[in-house]
Amino acid sequence: MVAPMVAPMVAFGQSAGEVGAAGAASPPSGAPRFALPQIEAGREQFHRTCSPCHGRNMVNSGTTSFDLRKFPADQPERFNQSVIQGRGNMPSFKDALTPEQIAFLWAYVGSRGGKEP
Ligand code: HEC
Repeated sequence: MVAPMVAPMVAFGQSAGEVGAAGAASPPSGAPRFALPQIEAGREQFHRTCSPCHGRNMVNSGTTSFDLRKFPADQPERFNQSVIQGRGNMPSFKDALTPEQIAFLWAYVGSRGGKEP
């Protein structure tokens, strides 16, 4: 999905233009941040892996585990870190999930379960 990094070439008269413009850059404001199929894949994954602690549809009392409905939607890095490394009483999912699965989970959590795509 993410375009491979293109090493800057030193070539005369060539513009770097188009190269590497695609990829992880943020979408133009107003555009949905997540595609529906990603959110849906994340929802399934979430209910397989995370709901025992975080609750169905992310609903839990918020006393024993983090209320993911309140996770800051502008902190995908923190989300990745916490899921990959674990946090407090939450185990690491480094070996259990692929980066793609974690990205789907972020689509689900970051969009508030599809309510704020
Ligand atoms: C074994 C129970 C358990 C499972 C399973 C679990 N979590 Fe957690 N999670 C917790 C607890 C407890 C916390 C609060 C950690 C703390 O801050 O002490 C937490 C916190 C978090 C946070 C907030 C971390 C932060 O940056 O403050 C995120 C994001 C999160 N979990 C995502 C997930 C996702 C995604 C999954 C599924 C892959 C998952 N969790 C599965 C128990 C769990």
